[in-house]
Amino acid sequence: MVNVTFLGHSCFMLEHGAHRILVDPFISGNPVCPVKADSMNPTAILVSHGHGDHLGDAIPISTRTGAPIISGYELVEFCMGEGAKGHGMSIGGGHDFEFGRVKLTAAWHGGSIEHQGKSVYGGTPCGFVIQMGGKTIYHSGDTGIFGDMELIGRLNKLDLACLPIGDNYTMGPDDAVEAVRMLKPARVVPMHYNTFDLIRQDPEAFRKRLGHLSDCTILKPGESVAL
Ligand code: NI
Ligand code: MN
Repeated sequence: MVNVTFLGHSCFMLEHGAHRILVDPFISGNPVCPVKADSMNPTAILVSHGHGDHLGDAIPISTRTGAPIISGYELVEFCMGEGAKGHGMSIGGGHDFEFGRVKLTAAWHGGSIEHQGKSVYGGTPCGFVIQMGGKTIYHSGDTGIFGDMELIGRLNKLDLACLPIGDNYTMGPDDAVEAVRMLKPARVVPMHYNTFDLIRQDPEAFRKRLGHLSDCTILKPGESVAL
């Protein structure tokens, strides 16, 4: 069993046995996140890209706990330069970790890091296919829809897809429905909406539009679902 806890925006904690995988830890400054960064004790941290609402508290949490930041090579190099532990990868590459396997997927988005008032190159943004506890989870990161989601769906029997529906910076609900058609996940959890006014969406309307395509689980920040 894998326990999946939504912490608001695109932040999730995935737990299986002693393994606690924190994804996109936007905790401090996240108006909907119910936890404090100081209380987080992950064993690994996955970061999809360098924007502040995804890199978030990854560096201080990694520095404090020793949990490695798993992400694209350039972003990991930056984090390690700031004192974090890290494991750099690139899109299309997978690696077997103690907790399971992570493969980086493409994401159509930006990747800069806000650092000391400047925009620093953070490499290519990514998503993740995560295999742990006998389950397969796709966290798309921030992305627009792309046709190779069909390939991700064909190569992986997805138990869960975490997909953005907020529009403006990522897919909106219309494209997220089409993404689900391609990915064919057993379950969908919408993310990257209602954190700010600009990405306001009605997740119930999205669930209705998905119909029988997939089991849409709407999690409030702090809520969990067991896979
Ligand atoms: Ni972003
Ligand atoms: Mn974002």
